[in-house]
Amino acid sequence: MFINFWYVAGRSDTLTDQPIKRRMLGQDFVLFRDTDGHAHCLSNTCTHRGGSLAGGRIKGDCIECPYHGWQFDGSGRCVRIPSLGANGRVPGRARVDAYPTIERYGLIFAFLGDLPEAERPPLMEIPEHTGSEPDAGWRATIQHFDWDFDYRRSIENGIDGAHNEYVHPTHSYSGERDTFVPAPELVHTEWGTGFWVEREAPPLADEKMRAASGRHKDAVIRAGTGHHGISSLWTFIYPTPDIKIHQYLYETPIDSGHTSLYLVNLRNFMLEPEHDERMKYRNENTAGQDRDVLMDVRPTLTPESRSKELFVPSDGTIAAYRDKLTEWEARGWRIDTDEVERNRLKVAYAIPSPARRESKGWILDPIPTLPAGESIADRKAANE
Ligand code: FES
Ligand SMILES: [Fe+2]
Repeated sequence: MFINFWYVAGRSDTLTDQPIKRRMLGQDFVLFRDTDGHAHCLSNTCTHRGGSLAGGRIKGDCIECPYHGWQFDGSGRCVRIPSLGANGRVPGRARVDAYPTIERYGLIFAFLGDLPEAERPPLMEIPEHTGSEPDAGWRATIQHFDWDFDYRRSIENGIDGAHNEYVHPTHSYSGERDTFVPAPELVHTEWGTGFWVEREAPPLADEKMRAASGRHKDAVIRAGTGHHGISSLWTFIYPTPDIKIHQYLYETPIDSGHTSLYLVNLRNFMLEPEHDERMKYRNENTAGQDRDVLMDVRPTLTPESRSKELFVPSDGTIAAYRDKLTEWEARGWRIDTDEVERNRLKVAYAIPSPARRESKGWILDPIPTLPAGESIADRKAANE
């Protein structure tokens, strides 16, 4: 798992007037709204005696620890320690880490890392959703799943052009034809790799969609997919030139082997709300087909060495994703999960927040990361 990326901390509509505890990157966070309705994301561990802030109450613009009532504002600053009395001076060191948040597309994004704003990898934007609602001509649905697999395995599945034929029977012909071998056009960006492909597909299985598209026969459909950053995925599907499905999937590692998936699906047809459930059902069905495969791949976590799997030409996007992981690990962004696990009962860590670059004297240790420079994959390759 990696610090220094934007992750979805939750759906906007689930954060109301009560704090929520969220586990991300193997650590606990508290989400709450202030009196203006702004969402905040703080490290959940109180700096006093380690109370769980999410178990407390919202008091004005602060979250109040349930143990001794210390209050922390949205910037993480402790503003009240009741046991000091009315005029007590609250020490600056009582602060907790607070993470930049952006609320957009019905989701709450938190930047879990300490990079200053100018250096942060950008979150994956949705160009068809520039306001609080999708742009005219588009309809959006949001779905959330918590599933038991490694987010990297899931992203690799998303950018794997050879899996659709076998994993998704409605996408193609389940291996009955030899025409599925993709000849993808690869797309490389600063933060990701993807591809576009044209492939033969059977008529749409869904009767309503078949009617909406006017496509009743086999056809060549155009589709593209790619990852952005560590764990976001875009997928564009054009069953006909006029029908567009644009999917934006944001994956948040809960911990090693468990992942929250947030899917924003935009469509430019069947725009009436009554069709939302049909679209969501289709998406859940397809995602469930991926989940069933991914939960049983071994090892559970993406192997550190490429020699422990066989790569063929259609795996080029996956190799490119792993190159990006190696690059981000070499920047010092990869969490040392072995060390965290070793100290699980002894140390409460915090993901370092940007404020740690400005001031010293933080109570919680920053989560250990692998040293910048050489990655694990580099070291393994050197030894092979
Ligand atoms: S542990 Fe939070 S106020 Fe004491
Ligand atoms: Fe899939």
